[in-house]
Amino acid sequence: MGRSSKDKRDIYYRLAKEEGWRARSAFKLLQLDEEFSLFKGVSHAVDLCAAPGSWSQVLSQVKIVAVDLQAMAPLPGVTQIQGDITKISTAQEIIRHFEGQSADLVVCDGAPDVTGLHDVDEYIQAQLLLAALNITTHVLKPGGNFVAKIFRGKDVTLLYSQLKIFFTSVTCAKPRSSRNSSIEAFVVCQNYSPPEEYVPNMSNPLLDHSYDVDFNQLEGPNRIIVPFLACGDLSAFDSDRTYPLQLDSSKEYQYLPPTQPPIQPPYQQACHLRKNKLLANEDSPSSRWLGCTCLLF
Ligand SMILES: C[S@@+](CC[C@H](N)C(=O)[O-])C[C@H]1O[C@@H](n2cnc3c(N)ncnc32)[C@H](O)[C@@H]1O
Repeated sequence: MGRSSKDKRDIYYRLAKEEGWRARSAFKLLQLDEEFSLFKGVSHAVDLCAAPGSWSQVLSQVKIVAVDLQAMAPLPGVTQIQGDITKISTAQEIIRHFEGQSADLVVCDGAPDVTGLHDVDEYIQAQLLLAALNITTHVLKPGGNFVAKIFRGKDVTLLYSQLKIFFTSVTCAKPRSSRNSSIEAFVVCQNYSPPEEYVPNMSNPLLDHSYDVDFNQLEGPNRIIVPFLACGDLSAFDSDRTYPLQLDSSKEYQYLPPTQPPIQPPYQQACHLRKNKLLANEDSPSSRWLGCTCLLF
């Protein structure tokens, strides 16, 4: 496969490079904003799970605190925290940055490294969303908005009901740049209005295995169903389609490298070991045996 094949398969990946965004995710936030005018009147924002930083780029007109497990190349006007949003220490660091003031918008594009085990992936994703919600209750101003990635899996009703406790409006939105083949969508939670006398804390019971398993079976008025909205102009590119490399007959296609390669990718050590032939000898009898064992299981 040539290096341009990803450009062909993924139109938003290609456009991101052409327009200088660090990731194709930028288009998701832009299309959500087209629908919900999320950036109107925003001067302070929190970008959770921000690396490599395209959402922070989109929000670059405002003061941002950006958080991620991964190190992120600097961006002007963005305060960075490297940490895990499910850890209380990271949450406290974010809250410290906001002492005396609050954010108008909190966004979270957090996604776990997918394992392929749907239940596990959905569970971890839900934990990220709820950790983001807990942090949000500390820093978001009343009336502010919260946007987060959600996997529309089997626990989604429980998540919606938890979000509805804090926001008057919750919508599930699917931007056109998010593939239809992906269970990813975004909850757009508007008008933060926590229950009266609610005291933000980091130990609220989040989705865990002891919750009532019948929650998703509720019906009628007991079941929380939020509106679902496809957003992004219908004339926008379709993320599930393959496009020719030359989109415009007057402009020749030219391969462009990514705007900002990852600065400390988790696979860096493996690449180093492989390049320097430091990996266990793949030809040794023991590793051949190990290979067979892996195939068997
Ligand atoms: C889809 S990427 C975010 C892309 C980003 N919005 C952008 O536009 O560049 C998901 C990010 O979630 C981060 N992440 C996953 N689990 C996390 C956690 N527990 N705490 C902080 N970040 C996390 C990953 O490191 C990854 O960078």
